Amino acid sequence: MPIQNRGPFEPPTLRTIIEPFRIKSVEPVRMTTADERERLLREASFNPFLLHASQVLIDLLTDSGASAMSSEQWAGIMRGDESYAGSESFWRLRDTMRDLTGFDNVLPTHQGRASERILFELVGGPGKVVPNNAHFDTTRANIEHSGAKAVNLPIPEAASPTSRHPFKGNMDVPALERLIEREGRENIPLVMMTLTNNTSGGQPVSLGNLREVKAVCDRHRLPLFIDACRFAENAWFIKAREPGMHAMSVRQVTRAMFDLADGATISAKKDGLVNIGGLLLIRDAALFQRACNLLILTEGFVTYGGLAGRDLEAMAQGYREVMEEDYLSYRIRSVEYLGEKLIASGLRIIEPPGGHAIYIDAGHFCPHIPRAEFPGQAVVCGLYRIAGIRACEIGSVMAGPRPASPPALELVRLALPRRAYTQSHYDYVAEACAELFARRHSLRGMRIVEAPDVLRHFTARFAEI
Ligand code: F0G
Repeated sequence: MPIQNRGPFEPPTLRTIIEPFRIKSVEPVRMTTADERERLLREASFNPFLLHASQVLIDLLTDSGASAMSSEQWAGIMRGDESYAGSESFWRLRDTMRDLTGFDNVLPTHQGRASERILFELVGGPGKVVPNNAHFDTTRANIEHSGAKAVNLPIPEAASPTSRHPFKGNMDVPALERLIEREGRENIPLVMMTLTNNTSGGQPVSLGNLREVKAVCDRHRLPLFIDACRFAENAWFIKAREPGMHAMSVRQVTRAMFDLADGATISAKKDGLVNIGGLLLIRDAALFQRACNLLILTEGFVTYGGLAGRDLEAMAQGYREVMEEDYLSYRIRSVEYLGEKLIASGLRIIEPPGGHAIYIDAGHFCPHIPRAEFPGQAVVCGLYRIAGIRACEIGSVMAGPRPASPPALELVRLALPRRAYTQSHYDYVAEACAELFARRHSLRGMRIVEAPDVLRHFTARFAEI
């Protein structure tokens, strides 16, 4: 990336941050014509979730499960021990996670939401309230499915797209105190912190904030759980941005974060650098035992949790690789690089760019489209039409027909899969966004023709107005 390294580390002689890998295996992506894309988009009822992946040139729908695995991970796939119980691959994963997080009790699950489902089946239920800096949608859905209430407590800066607060993922600590006072500690099974905070733009949480939240939890004898999908990216931001943290390694920062937690739900499809997998970490022995029993009921035995031995092996290796600081500096810089190009073209995005995605402010992009006509969906369709890029609406479509509170912004997320695309792909994405922005007045609003009530963004069918 031809921009100087502004990180806190020793200044390298050469300042260009490169992809810290070379490519051994390639997967062709297919160019389509504008006419083809027009037809395909209509066939998919203007919902890119309904496209075939082969119809997409650059897929920025999610960073989840879309990573490229390393040669060592592929070697691990061959080494995977497929024993039903006590697989060697499980012990290698357990040791890797114990080393990284300090947790002894490690359960594999098939993905993050399986960990959430088990946890909230155990501690949720009617009358309960679970605070978070901001719940991801599956976390909220699992909490609500148990009958409990999910509450977001982001800091006020999170609502301002252009505030350059370095830790916009932080929790509003006084608001947490007030919530505990109002709801009563006996109705709060745990406090959760999502690192990084996906819902508010992939923004990091500072170690200072995590410590303050932990202090409140201790005072009220409440457990603190972290949704640690992107803990490595969060640790890099702490090292890079938080005063006094520069001298720590990302590994040390990671350990400092997990030392504050009583448990964690993790989707390994993000910083685990694998295509499938999740984890549930629990310190309390009794709660862990109950989680084991529930996991056996629906996921599989406790040493594989719904995964193949080879998946556990790839995950263990992925979690070792994600701690590489060359990798993390390239990763965070790639997102920032794309963000800078979009800002230079006049787009408004959530600033500063987060760890895994750029969030375009679609309300600013299309001021002529009212919120009821889904400006985010219009931008998503525009990006596909103009360049074959697939992005994701995070606004009124995703929020559903009766949100507890309407989303603060109409956003379009460009999520960057890990190690999958190169700088020239992101140059192309930036050019396409700039071109669409220049033609933004031609974008039209959308209406929903057909949609389920819950998680409607996956399957909704739209028509153009
Ligand atoms: N928590 C966070 C913060 C997430 O971003 C996700 C998934 C999950 C939990 C659930 O994990 O998908 O493995 O069950 N986020 C993906 C995304 C889907 O596109 O942001 P999962």
